[in-house]
Amino acid sequence: MGTGWLAIRWLHVLAMALFVGGQLVLVTAVVPALREEQRPALRAVARRFGWASLAALAVLVATGSALASHEHLWDLRTLQVKLALVVLAGALIAWHIRRPERHAIEGAVFLVSLAIVWLGLALAHGPLPFD
Ligand code: HEM
Repeated sequence: MGTGWLAIRWLHVLAMALFVGGQLVLVTAVVPALREEQRPALRAVARRFGWASLAALAVLVATGSALASHEHLWDLRTLQVKLALVVLAGALIAWHIRRPERHAIEGAVFLVSLAIVWLGLALAHGPLPFD
């Protein structure tokens, strides 16, 4: 893999770190620290993180698609399952925006994100669970 493709991969992993790491920071630090008494601050943080994670998702789709084409991976079931989970995560995020008080949706977004990371690592390093 040349330097240019390494840079694409680097962008993919950085966007993944923002998307997944941000959720981890929210769950472990921001939500417990700003619970009941500082709800408006919590809402402001969540709204900004929402925009950042949307941008991260756009970068993940663009760089991930470039990598899949470059490495001719589109026919792999593992990639297709990963893409289905990306669509599911997007749908759950849209649902979460409409129903922010339903905290089970956030948990589901988080679990689906962890599964996507597993499949990403499997695509890059094996073993492929669905092929
Ligand atoms: C449409 C969306 C996406 C596509 C098409 C895609 C595609 C890919 C491909 C082809 C690889 C293999 C890269 C390589 O061989 O170097 C990869 C790796 C990876 N992806 Fe994605 N991806 C997408 C979204 C995501 C999302 C949303 C996440 C995380 C939440 C993610 C996390 C990862 C991780 C952790 C790796 C492993 C990177 C490495 O070890 O080099 N991907 N992705």
